[in-house]
Amino acid sequence: MTPLAALLAQRIAATGPISLADYMADCLMHPKYGYYATRDPFGVSGDFTTAPEISQMFGELIGLCLAQAWIDQGMPSPIILAEIGPGRGTLMADALRATKGVAGFHAALTVHFIETSATLRKRQAEAVPNATWHDSIETLPQGPFYLIANEFFDALPIRQFTRDAEGWREHMVGVEGDTLLMGLSAPAPIAMLEDRLADTKAGDIVEYCPALPSIVGEISARIEAHGGAALIIDYGDWRSLGNTLQALQDHAPANPLANPGQADLTAHVDFEAIAKAATSFTRVTTQGVFLERLGITARAQALAKGLTDAALEAHIQAHWRLTHPDAMGALFKVIGLFPKNGTPPAGLEI
Ligand SMILES: C[S@@+](CC[C@H](N)C(=O)[O-])C[C@H]1O[C@@H](n2cnc3c(N)ncnc32)[C@H](O)[C@@H]1O
Repeated sequence: MTPLAALLAQRIAATGPISLADYMADCLMHPKYGYYATRDPFGVSGDFTTAPEISQMFGELIGLCLAQAWIDQGMPSPIILAEIGPGRGTLMADALRATKGVAGFHAALTVHFIETSATLRKRQAEAVPNATWHDSIETLPQGPFYLIANEFFDALPIRQFTRDAEGWREHMVGVEGDTLLMGLSAPAPIAMLEDRLADTKAGDIVEYCPALPSIVGEISARIEAHGGAALIIDYGDWRSLGNTLQALQDHAPANPLANPGQADLTAHVDFEAIAKAATSFTRVTTQGVFLERLGITARAQALAKGLTDAALEAHIQAHWRLTHPDAMGALFKVIGLFPKNGTPPAGLEI
């Protein structure tokens, strides 16, 4: 039993079952035993790999896309370049290197990271020493706002509901002896799921991310007030349906209740929920299409010229993983947020 499992079992025995969102929040962010609070989970020695860790091309193209949005918006200065959930800071380091030659861009920007994990803040400081860190997006300074969120929203806790004849039953984490197990609450009407009565039937599972509307609302309010753009990239689809909760430990699927605090817990992102919560304009496409439109193949060919043997093979494989529909190209989507009177960021034109 993990130390966090013991704590949770005690708490549930004393006060009753907790929602899946409360369980996930402790598993991921408990200050002492939470998954992100205690480790750097990326790379070969960690539990998973993200796009910026696969290839420098990812961060480079995202940086250039935001720099182009800044040019299209008349090169405002000063601006805020922010990343929420920056992991190891690799994406931002690649974005900054790629945009060095964009006249005036670096002089205009300050880098802000929104990160709750003290362990990962240390890694990020090694990659981008001049950043400023925040616990939440609200404390960022006001001004033209350019934001990146890659695989951030999938790490936010979700609630899960199963529809039945009498309403929605919420998935709750309970305890039997010292084993955590999943149960269902009594059925009840759920106001925020009213609009899902039309397209679901008894037995369907729907997920809801409680933190999403306020975070997206804050991002889009800043873009509407001051100009800017946001690129949110993640795996998921348009409108939540079905159980997408997954646990990953040592690059392998695990039981989400088995080792709380020691496995990564994620859920697919509902891109319709992002579009609905945004007060700015939005545009969605797949990661593969987005990266191809930004010129990843030309960039890959240029980088390939300096490579041979195993390094060249790895580079070709990285290009495939980022873009191919059988890898990340179709499962991952990109949603761009941009001002109502503005043009969509590059790569999201149609
Ligand atoms: C899956 S990682 C993605 C990392 C990075 N964007 C990448 O692509 O490699 C999720 C990141 O979000 C951070 N995070 C999770 N919940 C957060 C929250 N509520 N506020 C800020 N950061 C959070 C984690 O510590 C981690 O840096």
